[in-house]
Amino acid sequence: MPSNSPKTDSSPVSVLGLGLMGTALATALIGAGHPTTVWNRTKSKTGPLAAQGATPADTARDAITAADLVIVCLTTNDNVRALLAPEADALAGRTVVNLTNGTPGQARELAEWAAAHGITYIDGGIMAVPQMIATPGAYIFYSGTDEAAFETHRPTLAALADTKWVGKDPGLAALYDLSLLTGMYGMAMGVAQAFAMIRSEGIPARELAPLLTDWIIAMTRGLVPEGAEALDTDQHLTDVSNLAMNREAFPNFTTAFAEQGLHTDLFEPLQDLLDRAVEQGHGADGFSRMALLLNKD
Ligand SMILES: NC(=O)c1ccc[n+]([C@@H]2O[C@H](COP(=O)([O-])OP(=O)(O)OC[C@H]3O[C@@H](n4cnc5c(N)ncnc54)[C@H](OP(=O)(O)O)[C@@H]3O)[C@@H](O)[C@H]2O)c1
Repeated sequence: MPSNSPKTDSSPVSVLGLGLMGTALATALIGAGHPTTVWNRTKSKTGPLAAQGATPADTARDAITAADLVIVCLTTNDNVRALLAPEADALAGRTVVNLTNGTPGQARELAEWAAAHGITYIDGGIMAVPQMIATPGAYIFYSGTDEAAFETHRPTLAALADTKWVGKDPGLAALYDLSLLTGMYGMAMGVAQAFAMIRSEGIPARELAPLLTDWIIAMTRGLVPEGAEALDTDQHLTDVSNLAMNREAFPNFTTAFAEQGLHTDLFEPLQDLLDRAVEQGHGADGFSRMALLLNKD
């Protein structure tokens, strides 16, 4: 259980959506001693939670009216909007914590809709997979206009994972969440390309795995903090690995992928970006410059 979580708490809470993540969230709340009401579109998913002590609700409205704190975790925010819109009157005066993955814009729209109906809205971004819920290392970003409401419910939310409040703009939790996931997906696709490359000669991926792990950790340790510092101080000149050199070396990737019988389309946009950097006169800069080139302004 996360360090800032109490062992037991009697505040009632309702959970709407019992997919893999919603089930993990409800399980954690039951485990922390909260009277927990659960609802899911496919009712059979309430069974295992009822066996652990949750109260299954026949309708979303029944679940909503069972607690002041309503946690929602569905596939998309379109699903959330469709589910909650007809229940606005039942939600009025309660707090909705939406842990569905979405965009900052979607969070702000939901917050506006909620405010117009007298509903307190807190958006969340879960930095964990279901198996990590209620274990050390898991955390959830939260944001919303009503910080006091968040503080009221923080002890309950702490049963799920450590809580990271990131501000009163409702879009900020999604912004932090997607920023971290952006880094993760970029890395995951690089790993996929690396495995495809080594396997193109029949070498098992597991032979590359320890080397790749150490390499990514070593590169990240330098690239991330130094890149952030360079960006924030607008000092991009480097004597380490400049963009002009990288631009000239980069065709080796796509050429090698083609030689090894692999698709080249993942890396082609990166070549375009490097070309643009050099054409715009940034050849002596390091990779921190790339973040500015991704900005449309
Ligand atoms: N799993 C992860 O590792 C993870 C990590 C971080 C964040 N998340 C986020 O958590 C959210 C849920 O993920 P999950 O893994 O729990 O997904 P999941 O296992 O696919 O469950 C999806 C849930 O959404 C419900 N749902 C979908 N459309 C609905 C609708 N129109 N009306 C009502 N309910 C609807 C499903 O109900 P039915 O059971 O009736 O289909 C189910 O309860 C997503 O936004 C995901 O991005 C997941």
